[in-house]
Amino acid sequence: MITGATGYVGRALSAWFIDKGIPYRAASRYPIETKELFNDLNVESVRFDFEDSSTYQQTFEGVKTLFLIRPTVLRELQPMEDTLRAAKFFGVNRVVFLSVLASEKMSFLPHRKIEKLLIHLGFNYTILRASLFMQDLLKYQQTDIREHHVLNIPAGLGETSFIDSRDVAETAFLSLMGKHYSNEVYKMTGKQSLSMYHVAEILSDEIGCKIIYTNPTKHQFIKTYLHRGFSNEYTAQLANVYTSVKNGFSKRISLDTERTLQREPRYLKEFIRDHKEAFIE
Ligand SMILES: NC(=O)c1ccc[n+]([C@@H]2O[C@H](COP(=O)([O-])OP(=O)(O)OC[C@H]3O[C@@H](n4cnc5c(N)ncnc54)[C@H](OP(=O)(O)O)[C@@H]3O)[C@@H](O)[C@H]2O)c1
Repeated sequence: MITGATGYVGRALSAWFIDKGIPYRAASRYPIETKELFNDLNVESVRFDFEDSSTYQQTFEGVKTLFLIRPTVLRELQPMEDTLRAAKFFGVNRVVFLSVLASEKMSFLPHRKIEKLLIHLGFNYTILRASLFMQDLLKYQQTDIREHHVLNIPAGLGETSFIDSRDVAETAFLSLMGKHYSNEVYKMTGKQSLSMYHVAEILSDEIGCKIIYTNPTKHQFIKTYLHRGFSNEYTAQLANVYTSVKNGFSKRISLDTERTLQREPRYLKEFIRDHKEAFIE
């Protein structure tokens, strides 16, 4: 069973199951759209909302293994706790959880609290602590890059070991299929730690157009995003992610991804090449 099936990792993870012909349940608040998205007989689409306990039974009944994400938009921890308790009640015993790099140093993070809860509730778990996704450049920066030729991220000189979410999804697939040891934590990073100045250089080289890193302050960034119509909550979470980059929390490089995939993780230039058209006006 996959939560966040329509997100970047969830979609790439679903593709693995579909490709291998393995039946699975895709959970989403919008099951009709999700069924259409995957359009495959092996996909059972179910309506699931962390914040609506009436959806728990149909989601978890008959499920033994769960891929768990924590949606960025979720304000409180309680729905995650309710969900995990329900999953346990309905017989889920293994959980692969998508967490964030260096969560062990950020006890205030909901992700860290969820990690502890998984252990406390006695699940057989695998925790994937991922660095910043390369896909975030598409999700949040595409318009700035395409139309204004700037990279507008308040990360100062901070470096990040960007990971392609397709590599996270592949690791999650292997974990769900029992290819990894239980009760393990993996650090999912790329092989380079890059400042946003470097990212702008790689973007410029790959798309053939000069991209400038504007290095805004957190305040300027928040103002811009609110002006664009993003919610207070979402903007604050995003600004906090970039502040953690600025403070060096996602600069660490680990060999875990290479070990679990038995190949090198994708480099940023490969990701940009694969999505070149999306970055060009
Ligand atoms: N982005 C990064 O760089 C990065 C790096 C490391 C870790 N992470 C972690 O990865 C997780 C996913 O992040 P993301 O940015 O890819 O996606 P996201 O925008 O946080 O979440 C997307 C998914 O969450 C589902 N969702 C949202 N609210 C829901 C609800 N109330 N009930 C059920 N499902 C709900 C959505 O499904 P529907 O809309 O179909 O319901 C969608 O599939 C987060 O915990 C994030 O911290 C992200």
